[in-house]
Amino acid sequence: MKKHVKGILLLAAVMMFSIVASACGNSNGGGGGGSVNVGIVLPTKDEPRWVQDEQRFKDALSGTKYNTEILFSQGSSAKEKENVETLLNKGIKVLIICPQDGDAAAAAVEAAKKDGVTVISYDRLITNTDAVDYYVTFDSLAVGAAQAQYLVDHSKGNGQPLYLYAGAATDNNAFLFFQGAWQVLQPKIADGTFKIANSSEAEKLKDTKDLSRDQMSSIIGQVTTNWDPNEAKNKAQTHLTAAAADMKGDVAILAPNDGTARNIADVFGSDSAVTSYVITGQDAEKASIQYIIDNKQSMTVFKDVRTLVKDAMGMAVEVLDGKSPETTGSYNNGSTDVKAKQTDVIVVDKDNVKKELIDSGYYKADEFTGL
Ligand code: BGC
Repeated sequence: MKKHVKGILLLAAVMMFSIVASACGNSNGGGGGGSVNVGIVLPTKDEPRWVQDEQRFKDALSGTKYNTEILFSQGSSAKEKENVETLLNKGIKVLIICPQDGDAAAAAVEAAKKDGVTVISYDRLITNTDAVDYYVTFDSLAVGAAQAQYLVDHSKGNGQPLYLYAGAATDNNAFLFFQGAWQVLQPKIADGTFKIANSSEAEKLKDTKDLSRDQMSSIIGQVTTNWDPNEAKNKAQTHLTAAAADMKGDVAILAPNDGTARNIADVFGSDSAVTSYVITGQDAEKASIQYIIDNKQSMTVFKDVRTLVKDAMGMAVEVLDGKSPETTGSYNNGSTDVKAKQTDVIVVDKDNVKKELIDSGYYKADEFTGL
């Protein structure tokens, strides 16, 4: 479908939602039973990524009569369950939820299903339950593949030290990112372009291109950041302290997202035996855009949250309208195939940062220095 036709359809869907939402009563999601149509639950306010999603939801809803409420789980699955119960008590018909922990969220969405609510897993897949109706996501395998390809494209000669870092093992995305990256990196480890610097488990599996979930778990268990920038920093310090001289010099670093990348970059940048480093990221967080401009982070994978928000809200509208949302594929969550709508990602580095993030209107030029 042509992009502008899609856009018009989406706009129509959003306008329909406005009508449906206003026909259903109160706006702004306050009050008691039956007052909220769509509940949105996001994992934490402590990471800019999810604050960005909240803002994009609010932008998409501003000036309309949407009956929507957004709650944050603050990194706790118990709080997440409580949030879902609060929203169920307000009469939601659709739940858009990004789980803190994919497995642990099953109980919350099972409670929602019991109430006849349609469950949309947002960005992260809720695993090992059949109580998930839809999944709206970026192409996470492509995120990992793009990070790895960047390292390959910027590799320097032979035997370059490669430091691996991963997201939280409770997040299914961490596996998808790692899997996508490994499939690109493994042949380059096998041909001697890279040598693994910080994971004996990855070293053991260096001849295996397609890793099983258990094999990935063993590597992720060693190099996880838990999506926590401080944990990332501590791990990077430990790795550099343990590294022999031949594991320094010009290095390549697979960092799973921007928050962890900045801290890992700071550690590598302050080691005088590290001559240069190339480091990946994702989310196009403002602080990382500044790092890219300042040559402190090499790239990020831009996931246009506006699209994800539009897709999720578009799906909610269709459901409220009694229709079946359009999907583009499916993801197996360990229990069932969940129908999914997937969005592409864009690689951003210093060369195209202005075009992709400023000229596109995503951020304003005056939010950065040295552009
Ligand atoms: C998201 C990333 C995010 C990470 C940490 C992942 O599930 O897809 O965009 O950086 O979680 O919050």
